[in-house]
Amino acid sequence: MLVIALCKGRFLAPSLDLLTEAGICFPEDIASSRKLIFNSEDHSFRAVLVKPADVPTYVEYGAADMGIAGRDVILESRADVLQPLDLKFGYCKIAVAGANGISEGAPPNTSRPTIRVATKYPRITMDYYNSRGIPVEIIPLSGSIELAPLIGLADRIVDLVETGRTLKDNGLEIVEVIAESSARLLINRAGYQTKRDEVLQLIQALEKVIR
Ligand code: PRP
Repeated sequence: MLVIALCKGRFLAPSLDLLTEAGICFPEDIASSRKLIFNSEDHSFRAVLVKPADVPTYVEYGAADMGIAGRDVILESRADVLQPLDLKFGYCKIAVAGANGISEGAPPNTSRPTIRVATKYPRITMDYYNSRGIPVEIIPLSGSIELAPLIGLADRIVDLVETGRTLKDNGLEIVEVIAESSARLLINRAGYQTKRDEVLQLIQALEKVIR
């Protein structure tokens, strides 16, 4: 049996649709259940539901053979996993944003020597500013990131931008795109060797659906 870690939340429905089209069907209504473990009809797959940011951890440690997660959380986790497939949904950007009209080179609007950046991606943010030699203070938040510059908690944010509506409605705009993101298939490195046939079969089935 292959164990696949799926994200709770907005990735769940498209992930299940993709698996169903690839012939992996779960008899229970996963989306409305409070259970966390589900076996497929033919018992060849087990789906476990975890928080999006935890998917890479489950796969890296081998608690799950594979998983589906956004490139954003994979980059942030720095997990050592294989990523053989872009699953072609969940498209968004990881971007630096700030008040309308602000440029990346602009100094912070205070006497502070560093730019304060609010984000739920502290590692991606640190890497971005380090690579540009810009001193930065990271303010870690877990949601409603766009609020931070509006009430003086931060000068910039690093966050996901999908439609751009949240930025626009809050008078913010993209300063620079750091990376593009979409849903990816993650595979545990050891599992790729020990369960090679099953894993390759799944990759091929998913590739067919995506094409
Ligand atoms: C995400 C992200 C942005 C928003 C972007 O937040 O953090 O806030 O979606 O989408 P948009 O460009 O289509 O407006 P989410 O809805 O996950 O909630 P959160 O603020 O609690 O992280």
